[in-house]
Amino acid sequence: MTDVLQREKRAAAEGAVALVGSRSIVGLGTGSTAAIAIEELGRRIRAGDLEEIVGVPTSNASHRLGIECGIRIVDIESTPVIDITIDGADEIDPLQRVLKGGGGALLREKIVAARSRRWVIIGDSTKIVDRLGSRYSVPVEVVKFGWSGHAEALREMGAAAVLRLGTGESPFVTDEGHYIIDARFPHGLDDPDGLARTLRNRPGVVETGLFLGFRPEVIIGRAAAE
Ligand code: 5RP
Repeated sequence: MTDVLQREKRAAAEGAVALVGSRSIVGLGTGSTAAIAIEELGRRIRAGDLEEIVGVPTSNASHRLGIECGIRIVDIESTPVIDITIDGADEIDPLQRVLKGGGGALLREKIVAARSRRWVIIGDSTKIVDRLGSRYSVPVEVVKFGWSGHAEALREMGAAAVLRLGTGESPFVTDEGHYIIDARFPHGLDDPDGLARTLRNRPGVVETGLFLGFRPEVIIGRAAAE
């Protein structure tokens, strides 16, 4: 990670936290850029700039970080509507469609996004792509039972599909207890909507990292020249 990209991430995170007002319920995203936003949110609460903020985490990692940063965490079951969620992305295309899930939190991230009034996506300049899937694999969260059938189906669709590994040779297991298959399409995606529909129709597929139709407010950080 170059200094420039790190500064871009910070600029985006700070820009997003500036949108948060006191007495807000804030969705706490997952990943390195969202982590900067969580830290900045905590800093502004401690400084007294923001009052009565509660956070709804999108992962166990964001939950832990939120607590470390002094943010009061609330259970999603008691928060039907979230005022604003700040989250990162792996790719954003010109139609504001977003590919996420590099950090493995796509399912909770999508549930939180779906109940957020404002969904603010932050990132550095490398996140902008012409075509989704051109740089990153599409993560597909699946129940453990029968996972290899989805990998095979993705291969038949032209993707190089692999089971995501965690530490060592063990499969990565999501916060909801599922596996992730990473599907790399060699030329990116022709039809993200069609792919998402096809995958969601397969029994055992829980979610995909394709966040389509969410109307994000996108903030790409610009690093000031040094
Ligand atoms: C986690 C995600 C992340 O937001 C995404 O992978 C971007 O991460 P980073 O900010 O570290 O580049 O979707 O599931």
